[in-house]
Amino acid sequence: MISYTIWSEAGGVGKTTMTVSLAEAHRRHGQRVLVVDMDPQDGGSTHHLGADAERGDPDADNLVRHLIGRPKGAFEDLIVNVSDGLDLIPSHNMLGSLERNLLRAQELEEDMGGEFEPERQLRRVLADTDIHDEYDVIIVDPPATGGQHVYNAVYATSNLLIPLELSAKGRQSVEGLRDTVSGIEDALGDVEVGVLAVVPNRVSNTRTQREYEDELDEQDLPIAPVEIRERRAMLEGAWDNQVTPYEFATEHRSRRRDREIETLEKFDELARFVSAQFGVELDAEVATA
Ligand SMILES: Nc1ncnc2c1ncn2[C@@H]1O[C@H](COP(=O)(O)OP(=O)(O)OP(=O)(O)O)[C@@H](O)[C@H]1O
Ligand SMILES: [Mg+2]
Repeated sequence: MISYTIWSEAGGVGKTTMTVSLAEAHRRHGQRVLVVDMDPQDGGSTHHLGADAERGDPDADNLVRHLIGRPKGAFEDLIVNVSDGLDLIPSHNMLGSLERNLLRAQELEEDMGGEFEPERQLRRVLADTDIHDEYDVIIVDPPATGGQHVYNAVYATSNLLIPLELSAKGRQSVEGLRDTVSGIEDALGDVEVGVLAVVPNRVSNTRTQREYEDELDEQDLPIAPVEIRERRAMLEGAWDNQVTPYEFATEHRSRRRDREIETLEKFDELARFVSAQFGVELDAEVATA
């Protein structure tokens, strides 16, 4: 089972874009993919994949109800089928009060002599519903803020993939990376967090960016063998049309643009790189044919 959380404590660095693009790349290799959107904001993968119909309905069953042990229905019924091989557990506004809800659930449970570990609930819910038999890949897209969203995501997936901007902001987040990872490990107790890759994003080869890149090379970090170039037109087009970048570049354009196809191939290479770390070798030919 390939499972990872795409996260950086820096906001707007491409977590959601990478979630959607990698999910699509895995799917195109025939892997069955589940994306879990844990970002309470409207701008996460649920929106990107065009599935946010029920997010504002306070009565709707949603992930948080399951995490606090008060579901309104079967967990399977939360799953939205986006396309063949790609499913999504959509975001809901209730994720905005996830932390409070989890702590209240913990109090109630402990008052009754039970035990409830707030950071372990996503893992529990996924394990209880045998989700691991149904999917080959699980990707979680949490918000940039630390806390229970990320704790639950990391406890459930054990691995991180980290998008990085080659900028002062990016440098700061990388410098803090080891502390952040060990902070998460401390908070979770018995889990070792793997960093699958740090992926440079929005690369445009300016001199400043190349300087940051040189600096990065000197650090002992698992830098991905792939970087994602600045591709605003394609990625914003994909957002605006609520489709994956792959779909946008191949179906919404009047003609294919080489640079865009090249970037899709990078996402594909990244999906292969990630899969290989789980012992799964994907065929290089599928790419963007
Ligand atoms: N390689 C890229 N080239 C150009 N634009 C990009 C690239 N990657 C991401 N973007 C754009 O940057 C913006 C932020 O990306 P995205 O929403 O994926 O970041 P995020 O890390 O998920 O943000 P948040 O912290 O709000 O969850 C989007 O408009 C997206 O289209
Ligand atoms: Mg996001």
